[in-house]
Amino acid sequence: MSYKKLKFPSNSLFLVTGGAGFIGSHLVRYFVNKYPNYSIFNLDKLTYAGNLENLKDIENAPNYTFIKGDICDRDTLKKVFEKYGIDSVIHLAAETHVDRSVNDPLEFVKTNVIGTLTLLQVAKEFWQKDNYEGKLFYHISTDEVFGSLDLDGGYFTEDCKYEPHSPYSASKASSDHFVRSFYDTYKMPIVISNCSNNYGPNQFPEKLIPLFINNIRHNRDLPVYGKGENVRDWLYVEDHVSAIDLIFHKGKIGETYCIGGKNEWKNIDIIKRVISITDELLGRESGASLKLIKFVTDRPGHDLRYAIDCTKLERELGWQPSYTFDDGIRKCVEWYLNNQEWLDQVTSGDYQNYYDKMYKGR
Ligand code: NAD
Ligand code: TYD
Repeated sequence: MSYKKLKFPSNSLFLVTGGAGFIGSHLVRYFVNKYPNYSIFNLDKLTYAGNLENLKDIENAPNYTFIKGDICDRDTLKKVFEKYGIDSVIHLAAETHVDRSVNDPLEFVKTNVIGTLTLLQVAKEFWQKDNYEGKLFYHISTDEVFGSLDLDGGYFTEDCKYEPHSPYSASKASSDHFVRSFYDTYKMPIVISNCSNNYGPNQFPEKLIPLFINNIRHNRDLPVYGKGENVRDWLYVEDHVSAIDLIFHKGKIGETYCIGGKNEWKNIDIIKRVISITDELLGRESGASLKLIKFVTDRPGHDLRYAIDCTKLERELGWQPSYTFDDGIRKCVEWYLNNQEWLDQVTSGDYQNYYDKMYKGR
């Protein structure tokens, strides 16, 4: 198969899905500020995980437009492609929390599988008449599609077979397969990246790090699943975004890139680290909050270890993370402690009125 090299016009019109979520909001801000010639359309359903407060600082930027919409809604997507002449997509919208997927797998299939397929179909419909000239569908995925590694069992690479265990990772694996199938079947220019666990500001406090910072602040229990021996490879969210920028502009069509922090931590060790920094910043005695740790029943199907070998991304595109873990985790804890109002709003659900206040009737 031969594909034309992707060239971006200076006024690229691109759609980000899920841009009001954790990674999406960092991505939107980065692109809006770095590329004033691009027009960035952020389509988000604003589920419990989407929060427009995350984008307050850029909401009036001339190159930014927010659209409230569901990726499962074909008519809305068609209107967006038609009205704005979308020429590329960075697709982040998803249901993302493993524990929620255990309780409600169908919701994950709806958004992650059917939503992704609906978006692919609409993009194909609009782009194939131009023979996909200058178009790109960039799908953001996770290392969890590769399954679980032994504690001393090597690393995930682009060549690993898919072996998802949770309904979340199974739905993301399925979406990756559909994206690749559009490359093989219809010659749609696609690229996929599979990233390790992200941490940083604006992450919904159901995920380990923000949940634990918030619980420490309120002197609540810290529920450690199993024995806390599971291992994750943590990457500061802005480093994920810089990798996406490189892949979006310089990645090879049809390829997959693994993104990771080369920063593996056993859960119990990262939890102790978070406790130590949070206690220090709250002016508590060192280790005062260790007593909040409670070992609880393990997550069903809990993957033991994720770890990424990102040599391909480093060698081919020259990517390097810019944050050390020491700097990143301190900055992250500081952000949550300095933004207690944000934490209180998202835990109370108040932020869900922001859309009505800011956008309705505009
Ligand atoms: P998030 O849960 O914080 O945000 C998801 C966003 O998608 C929210 O704004 C939500 O409103 C929106 N959304 C959900 N369903 C939608 C629908 N049907 N239509 C339109 N919008 C919808 O997620 P995140 O952590 O920012 O993850 C973003 C992407 O990155 C996901 O695809 C995820 O699989 C992937 N990823 C995340 C991580 C991580 O550590 N967080 C790591 C690797 C890959
Ligand atoms: P999480 O942030 O949910 O990300 P993922 O499951 O996608 O890796 O969880 C990170 C790790 O922390 C994972 O091994 C599960 C564990 N964990 C706990 O021990 N307690 C908790 O309350 C949560 C949310 C996670």
